[in-house]
Amino acid sequence: MAVKLRYGVIGCGHLGRFHVQKAAALDNVELVGLFDIDGEKGRSAADANQTHAFAEVEELLAEVDAVSIVVPTETHHQEGMRALEAGKHVLLEKPIAVSVSEGEELTNLAARQDVKLQIGHIERFNPACAGLRLLPETPRFIEGHRLSQFNPRGLDVAVIFDLMIHDIDLILSLVDAEVTEVHASAVAVISDKPDIANARLRFANGTVANLTASRISVQKMRKLRLFARDNYVSIDFLQKKGEHFLLAETDATDIPDGYFSAAEYAPTGRRILFGALSYPDCDMLTEEIKSFVDAVQNDRPVVVSGREATAALKVALQIEKSAREGLDRVVT
Ligand SMILES: NC(=O)c1ccc[n+]([C@@H]2O[C@H](COP(=O)([O-])OP(=O)(O)OC[C@H]3O[C@@H](n4cnc5c(N)ncnc54)[C@H](O)[C@@H]3O)[C@@H](O)[C@H]2O)c1
Repeated sequence: MAVKLRYGVIGCGHLGRFHVQKAAALDNVELVGLFDIDGEKGRSAADANQTHAFAEVEELLAEVDAVSIVVPTETHHQEGMRALEAGKHVLLEKPIAVSVSEGEELTNLAARQDVKLQIGHIERFNPACAGLRLLPETPRFIEGHRLSQFNPRGLDVAVIFDLMIHDIDLILSLVDAEVTEVHASAVAVISDKPDIANARLRFANGTVANLTASRISVQKMRKLRLFARDNYVSIDFLQKKGEHFLLAETDATDIPDGYFSAAEYAPTGRRILFGALSYPDCDMLTEEIKSFVDAVQNDRPVVVSGREATAALKVALQIEKSAREGLDRVVT
């Protein structure tokens, strides 16, 4: 059997405990231990997973090949740089950091050290992402809704960095063009950082994306709708379902399996085909860690690089700035 990857987890709060649990369950990983700045949290996560809680982060780093870093966002840069400087492969939670320069420093250091740096944009591992690739061309218009019920966790950052950044990352992975215009509004309702935000992004190729994120909604929703010239795809990331409508000639015979004619109009010779999309559920965090481990062990590119995550952060920061300027205008 191949040599197991010696693995550690830094930060064992709400999400870090899941990283510990999932890494411990992988056959090709040896969970060496964990570290949390709060010793009690570290010991409790270690006990629950029959592993060792290190007293110092440097001691853990000395014993491992790779780490998950699951600490609050403002310390991503500090802890990421420390692990990369020690020559370790890093799976760092999203958002990559608090500034573009921090994101670039992390990305550049990983390249210099010749180690893998993957960022935890977990939605890329949602099986429903396969639906996004059904569009044969770049979408012209995208509508995104990512709404969550209130939860006091994650309030250290605006909803743009907490929720909307998942959709920003997905859209940047689909639209191969620069963002040229950003118009946003955001409101801090219950916390002291924006809890609801809406952003309209225009890309250099003409694509427009309209994104809404909220962490004070009554119901959860995670949907992207993509419109191209002859195709419309709607993806529900929560239900792992979707819908695909596409335009075809009435006499076309190459109808995809499972699709049927929803409407047809003889004078134009056109019809609309419809296909219901459904994807098997999976444990997305396990898939994310597995792909990181695979990238390290088989020297493959990571699924979400530091460069991509920094690009998503840059757009998120532009959204925050536009929203702040808009609010300033309202206030004065
Ligand atoms: N990918 C996602 O969808 C997703 C979801 C939730 C959270 N996150 C990200 O995960 C990170 C952690 O979120 P959380 O909800 O688990 O937070 P949390 O507050 O529950 O846990 C953070 C833990 O890190 C520890 N910690 C703080 N500074 C540390 C340091 N320097 N070294 C070691 N440990 C330290 C704290 O004691 C705490 O136990 C955040 O960056 C957040 O954005 C991502």
